[in-house]
Amino acid sequence: MAAIADDRQLHRAAEREAAKAPPMFNMVSDTEGGGDDSKSEQEGSYCLIKGSSDLSDRGFTRLPDRYVLPVSERPGDGLGRVVNHGVEREVIAGLLEVARRFFELPLPWRARYMSADVRAPVRYGTSFNQAKDAVLFWRDFLKLASCQPLHAAVASWPDEPADLREVAARYATANHQLFMEIMEAALEALGIACRRSLLRELATGYSQIMLNCYPACPQPELTLGLPPHSDYCLFTLLLQDNVEGLQVLHHGRWLTVDPVPGSFIVNVGDHLEIYSNGRYKSKIHRVRVNSTRPRISVASFHSVPVERVIGPAAELVDEGNPRRYMDTDYATFLSFLASAEGKHKSFLQSRKIAS
Ligand code: OGA
Ligand code: NI
Repeated sequence: MAAIADDRQLHRAAEREAAKAPPMFNMVSDTEGGGDDSKSEQEGSYCLIKGSSDLSDRGFTRLPDRYVLPVSERPGDGLGRVVNHGVEREVIAGLLEVARRFFELPLPWRARYMSADVRAPVRYGTSFNQAKDAVLFWRDFLKLASCQPLHAAVASWPDEPADLREVAARYATANHQLFMEIMEAALEALGIACRRSLLRELATGYSQIMLNCYPACPQPELTLGLPPHSDYCLFTLLLQDNVEGLQVLHHGRWLTVDPVPGSFIVNVGDHLEIYSNGRYKSKIHRVRVNSTRPRISVASFHSVPVERVIGPAAELVDEGNPRRYMDTDYATFLSFLASAEGKHKSFLQSRKIAS
C-alpha cells in the first residue's frame, strides 16, 4: 500500500460526508488526483487517511465531522507514578524530542509505515483503530515492537529521523529494565512463589513502544485524543511531555494526571488484572486534547511472550477465591482488536467468568 490522499481528495471526502454519502476514507493512490472510490471500497479494510497532525497543520478552525463524538461521549471538564527510577533524563528527553521530529516529517515519510495489520512490528497510523473507529480520535501514533533482545526489532524501525533507532533503543532497554523491577515488586506483593521463572520469561517477553502525537485541536470539547480504554499488558509505563491530557477514571470521575517532567505513570494493564485474579485492577483512561499545545506521550506496554497463555496465578485461586478470568493469549486479543472497536474494558469483560 502506498501513497497519499491529496487535499482535493480530502475536500471531496468532506463534501460526500456533508451529502450523507456512504462513509469513505481518503484513499490510497499513487496517481495524482486518482480518486477511485471503487478501488478504495474493494481494498476495503484500511486506507491511508490524513491524521490529526496533517489536519492540524492546515489551520482548520472547525473540527472535521469524522472526529465529533456523540454528545454523551464528549469530554466534560475535569496511579501510580515513579520518579527516581534510574532512566537517565537525557534518554527520556531524547526520546520525546525524536518523537516530535518523527511526527513533523512530511506525510509520505510517515506513511511508509502505515499498515492495516495490527500485528505489524512497526505501524504508523491515526486515531485508535482507524479501520474500525466510527468516529476518529485526534491522535497519530507510531508503534514500535521492542521485545528484548532488541536487535531484531530495531532493524525494522524507521531510519528517519536518522537518530530514531539509537535513541529509541536506549530508551526501550532502560524502560524494560524498569518494568522488570516493578514486576518483581508486584509479584512479591502478590505472594507468588515461583516468580523467578515468570521473570525469566518476561526478560524476553512482549514489549512495544507507542509514540503518540496529539496536535492542537480546533474544537477539543467535541472529541478525544484516545477513547476510554484499558491497556492490554501487565504494566504500561507512560511518559508524557509537559502538556496535560491523560485522564484516569476514578470512582466514576475523570481525574487529570498532572505531567511531572521525567516521571513515568505506572498503569496496571488487563494482563495483570487476569494474572492477579482481580487483586490488581486495570485502569480505564482516556486522553483529552486542547486547542493550543500539541502533546507527545510515549506508552511502553510490557507483557509475557505473545504465544504464552496467561491466566490467574495458582497461588491466588482457592476455594475462597475462585478463578475469575479465563486464560487468554495475545493472539486472541489481536484478533479482537482487528475485528472490533477495542473500547472500554470490552476484551477483559469477555474473559471474565460470571460468578
Ligand atoms: C495509550 C495511552 C495515554 C497518553 O497509548 O494506550 O493510553 O497520555 N496513552 O497518551
Ligand atoms: Ni492506554
